Amino acid sequence: MEKTIAILTSGGDAPGMNAAIRATVLAAAHYGIKTLGVMRGYNGLIDENVVELTEEKVRNIIHQGGTILKSARCKEFKTDEGIERATKTLEKLAIDSLIVIGGDGSFTGLCRLQKQWHGKVIGIPGTIDNDIDGTDLTIGYSTAINTCIEAIDKIRDTADAFERIFLVEVMGRHSGYIAMNVGIATAAEQVLTFETHSSLESEVENIKQHITACRQQRGDCSYIIVIAENLWPGGVNALASLLSEQVGIDCTPCVLGHIQRGGRPVAKDRVLATRLGVAAVEAVVGELSGVMVGEESGSICYVPLDKAIKHEKTLNPELIYAQNNILDIAKLADLPKL
Ligand code: ADP
Ligand code: F6P
Repeated sequence: MEKTIAILTSGGDAPGMNAAIRATVLAAAHYGIKTLGVMRGYNGLIDENVVELTEEKVRNIIHQGGTILKSARCKEFKTDEGIERATKTLEKLAIDSLIVIGGDGSFTGLCRLQKQWHGKVIGIPGTIDNDIDGTDLTIGYSTAINTCIEAIDKIRDTADAFERIFLVEVMGRHSGYIAMNVGIATAAEQVLTFETHSSLESEVENIKQHITACRQQRGDCSYIIVIAENLWPGGVNALASLLSEQVGIDCTPCVLGHIQRGGRPVAKDRVLATRLGVAAVEAVVGELSGVMVGEESGSICYVPLDKAIKHEKTLNPELIYAQNNILDIAKLADLPKL
């Protein structure tokens, strides 16, 4: 009997998800496997909202951001009843394997489903946060950091023209990959991430000292702080208020927001997504289940799903070291004035 794969996208969408859907459909066709697309994340399994995906449906989507299958956060799937309903749909439609493109939350749900359902489950890491273990990069991360860099370069132009201070908040939920890499790539004067920040009050003091040292060295100048979201309640706006009210430093907060999730995927995401889509189908053909396909040091790897969501992957300490060295106030003060 013909095999059937179902595929869905879940959680925060990420540029390159479409490329992964396309690769999965085409690779499945290569092996004579039919692919069904499940709409709106796990909602589509609960509501039986499923479409057949053909070569024609995935033509000309590799360059599009978002996801043709739509994405969602599905509360019902977090309940036993929701998982039960999803299982019934999978059984009714005679689906052999389910491929989920998403982040750690989506994989947590997939692990729960695996305990209920006899079919095979495979994860493909798709999130701009890059916070999945067992893969060097997640689909969407490379595009997101490029989007941030493009935006902050523009902020730098106006900051420079006005010799002004900007606090720029970037996404990352609980992980500093976006903030640290974007901060380094935009020569931000400060980077505050989940991994490196201290309390709001002590950051105000650090920033005051650093801005003073910078201005003694350079005179009035632009100054950009890249800040990860969720460091404290109120994010950049809270920090901007404290700096203005308590220290008398005028600064402009700017939340980059959801532009980070959209846009045309860069080459790195298109290629990664294509490789992972093909590898996911090969996992199905090879009778694997309960694994995520990832890429480590340039090679495809298969990682148990429960290991992929452990949050043990950490920012490379060399990145933090490099950024700290560049920021060293004492050394900065020793540099000859221009
Ligand atoms: P991401 O996958 O990007 O991390 P979320 O954390 O929002 O995004 O998770 C996406 C979806 O995965 C949730 O809306 C829910 O449907 C499912 N999910 C998350 N956690 C669980 C859980 N503990 N049990 C079942 N499903 C879950
Ligand atoms: O998981 C990706 C992500 O973009 C995070 O960086 C961010 O915290 C979150 O999703 C925002 O989610 P929402 O869609 O609920 O605004």
